[in-house]
Amino acid sequence: MLLRDLSPSHALLATLLAAAPQLSSAFYLPGVAPTSYAEGDSVPLYVNALTASASQKDGALRSIVPYDYYHPMFQFCRPDPEPEDRPESLGSIIFGDRIKTSPFELKMGVNETCKAACNPVKFDVGSAAFTNDKIFRDFDLNWLVDGLPAGQLLEVDKTKTQFYSQGFKLGNSEISPPALNNHYDILIDYHESTTGQFRVVGVLVQPSSRANSGVHDGTPDCGDASTPMQLATDHETTVTWTYGVYWRPSPTAWGTRWDKYLHVFDPKIHWFSLINSAIILVFLSLTVVSILYRALKKDIARYNRLDSIDLEDFSGTSAALEDGVQEDSGWKLVHGDVFRAPKYSLMLSVFLGNGAQLFVMTGATIAFALLGFLSPSNRGSLGSVMIILYTLFGFIGGYASARVYKSFGGEAWKLNIGLTPLLVPGLVFCTFFLLNFFLWVNGSSGAVPFTTMVVVVAIWFVISVPLSFAGSWVGFRQQAVAAPVRTNQIPRQIPPGTTWLRPIPSMLLVGLLPFAAIFVELFFIMSSIWFSKVYYMFGFLFLCYGLMIVTCAAVTILLVYFLLCSENYHWHWRAFLAAGTSAFYVFLHAVAYWVTKLQLGGLTGGVLYLGYSALISFLFFILTGTIGFFASWMFVQKIYGSIKID
Ligand SMILES: *[C@@H]1O[C@H](CO)[C@@H](O)[C@H](O)[C@H]1NC(C)=O
Repeated sequence: MLLRDLSPSHALLATLLAAAPQLSSAFYLPGVAPTSYAEGDSVPLYVNALTASASQKDGALRSIVPYDYYHPMFQFCRPDPEPEDRPESLGSIIFGDRIKTSPFELKMGVNETCKAACNPVKFDVGSAAFTNDKIFRDFDLNWLVDGLPAGQLLEVDKTKTQFYSQGFKLGNSEISPPALNNHYDILIDYHESTTGQFRVVGVLVQPSSRANSGVHDGTPDCGDASTPMQLATDHETTVTWTYGVYWRPSPTAWGTRWDKYLHVFDPKIHWFSLINSAIILVFLSLTVVSILYRALKKDIARYNRLDSIDLEDFSGTSAALEDGVQEDSGWKLVHGDVFRAPKYSLMLSVFLGNGAQLFVMTGATIAFALLGFLSPSNRGSLGSVMIILYTLFGFIGGYASARVYKSFGGEAWKLNIGLTPLLVPGLVFCTFFLLNFFLWVNGSSGAVPFTTMVVVVAIWFVISVPLSFAGSWVGFRQQAVAAPVRTNQIPRQIPPGTTWLRPIPSMLLVGLLPFAAIFVELFFIMSSIWFSKVYYMFGFLFLCYGLMIVTCAAVTILLVYFLLCSENYHWHWRAFLAAGTSAFYVFLHAVAYWVTKLQLGGLTGGVLYLGYSALISFLFFILTGTIGFFASWMFVQKIYGSIKID
């Protein structure tokens, strides 16, 4: 799907880099089974929460607070007797879906030109002001028919390709007061799979604003779009909600029905920026590794030669001195301190345990997505899979934390076992709870219901915490990771370091590269989070995740090497914090995104945005910090294991 838009040479390059494009278009193969309808069968239309979308004027997003479709201020028609909640997955609820039944009646293959959804409703002054504000903020209606979102047909100016947006406009804010769309022409594409069996393969809604519609003697009159329906803010306004349904035969097969929704905005740019950054980063990492490798080989050869000279022939030392090799210098000097346990080793091991858990969870989620288990028809499956995997990998968190702590020679093992599953998830949950409170105060449907919160806490305590305890138990039962050299009794003096090896400059330098690795993809992740778009570019994400791991490991190892060469052996926290600094850049990027792309207005939007950004950055900090630490640990084990020490 993506390759089609590339010229042959670039396509070749792209294919060489990864099989990602094929995978990304094939990922919805398994998952949901198709539903077939006979002619005249009723096809349910469900309504989801209203969300703001990018403004057509300036592309800015003016709200991140979703509202329930049946929020009393909107005055939408309700089904008889009452709207019912649709069963949803945990991930779907947490990520904001509130799917309910609707009064719209759709019958497979049966066109309707004009129907009223209910009797005319009255907008009082308060409702009108509320609804007008939502129109001004470019709110979209999100309807679902057979798992497909009802979109509007859009066209990319440059490439002239058409695609379906996910959601359609509540109204039009180009006139004042804004026009409310009170008539919907629902166009449904269907495909005949076998004779007499029809499947829904596309849903479009063309909304329009009609002041002259109404119900006369029980017969609906849909009027026309000549005069827009504007809600007055000084007196009551009567509004009739009307709709028409048009069924259009389509050659699109059910298996490819998502293609026109999952539209990549200019895939060429995406591939080029990704390939560019990949080449630069791989080149950089290779340079780092090769320089380091040569330097180390020389160092190790020198150290071992010095040793053998000392042992075999004392007079040989003078020859060695003439060679320009004097005495031990550089990283060998700190061999008696490099495996000294860091300060606050309990804290570090707890972070590392959680980082390992996140690392495996992220990798496994992307793998699941690449294998095609996360269909966009299965709403919230991404969120659900993340929650389930995070819960199950509690075992790995406990295990990693325990082993690291034991290797640090930690004594407070009970505290370690307890803090590993409680500290980081607890912090995350408390922040989430606070932000949720903000949403709830605002009457937003984005607030996760209390029962869901209880379920999340229950899953955490009943499954994740015991698994983490079990992991810790296994970890503590195993041997500590043995250091290749003995640690001296008395710590060595550390000479003053060079400027850029000081904590802050080195952190800022090291953190920049892993951030650069994900920078390209971050833009798309941000738009899918805040503009509520389906994220599906897992091929790209997979590449970026791999790139990030490699660069993160390479630059942190380089930092640790320079630290040790300057005889500073406090590398544990330095490696963790330096690699984790990329999260600081992620947060800065989020702030820049806020300034350029969002115009939230008001305290709630700002608090929510910054709160969620800080939360994501914190998790990213732990993730990258852990990658940097374990890479450095392996490195230190390796280099001190390969020199002889008398
Ligand atoms: C229903 O409307 C569509 C779109 O106008 C049209 O293509 C189709 O032929 C109509 N179907 C019937 C059964 O009239």
